Amino acid sequence: MAYLLFTIYDSVGQGLKDLKWKGNKMGEQHWKIKSIDPGIAREIGFHGSHWHTAHGGYFANSTIARPLISALKDAIAISSPAVVADLGAGTGFILSELRMHGQYPGVRLINVDISERQLEKGVDSRILSLHVSIDEITREVLDPGNRPLLFVMRSVLHYFGHKGLRPLLAYLRSQMKTGEFFVHQTICFEQECDAQRINLLFQRMRVNKWFPTVSELSTYLREEGWTVERISPAPNILATSQDLAERYQLGKKDIYRIRDEISQLYGEAPGMFVATPDGFYEYGHFKIFTCRAT
Ligand SMILES: C[S@@+](CC[C@H](N)C(=O)[O-])C[C@H]1O[C@@H](n2cnc3c(N)ncnc32)[C@H](O)[C@@H]1O
Repeated sequence: MAYLLFTIYDSVGQGLKDLKWKGNKMGEQHWKIKSIDPGIAREIGFHGSHWHTAHGGYFANSTIARPLISALKDAIAISSPAVVADLGAGTGFILSELRMHGQYPGVRLINVDISERQLEKGVDSRILSLHVSIDEITREVLDPGNRPLLFVMRSVLHYFGHKGLRPLLAYLRSQMKTGEFFVHQTICFEQECDAQRINLLFQRMRVNKWFPTVSELSTYLREEGWTVERISPAPNILATSQDLAERYQLGKKDIYRIRDEISQLYGEAPGMFVATPDGFYEYGHFKIFTCRAT
């Protein structure tokens, strides 16, 4: 297969990255960028073929995805985008599910992910894939025709950590035109103590992921130029300590130490954090935010 190497430029004319652009069997174009992001390096073993069974199969389950698909379909019906980009798409489950619910002729569907291993598992040849970090994506790269755009995202904002969240929301806003939709499903908590507990857990696992409260996330979105039109529920995710140990290469001693510290500090919290003889269960509470660029 032939590859073409070239450089794209941002709006002020600075070179961003060298991209590889390759044609697939259907003659469609896939963009690729060569970089390995430290943010995913530790969990790379969980990506690709393993992803559909991760966390009890959460990310490959049609019933679980239904509320997000429904919010996405509503946003598409209102705004009629020409381009729908799934940011941090993983193996591309969300856009594949969308296609089960409709054909969307003429709409350019694009999976964007920093993990090549995830993108390689995408099976639907009508969906393009772009191997690039979402904090470098530009609307011109997504669609040189600069047509109406919609962003969808599931379970990605936490990868940017506390410090990176607001800059990312601002950056994504800078790529959108007023009125365009950003529909995302994100782990966040009603109660401050529940967010604090999970953030301590990730700190102790030495993973730079951060989870806000619903109120914090709503404020950040508003302050970075998004109107939050609707917040709706989505199924919770269960992460067992066994999953987390495998995902982040933790030993039994780490797990016991973390379980004991969290239990002592916060006590039992059914439906949030439960200590078990082997470790613990941690529950992530998802919400779907339907946002529009203000
Ligand atoms: C928890 S998974 C969710 C995957 C997919 N959205 C789904 O719901 O099945 C998070 C995904 O975000 C991707 N990701 C993390 N940081 C990223 C970044 N900076 N740019 C693009 N993708 C990123 C990871 O590679 C991973 O595939």
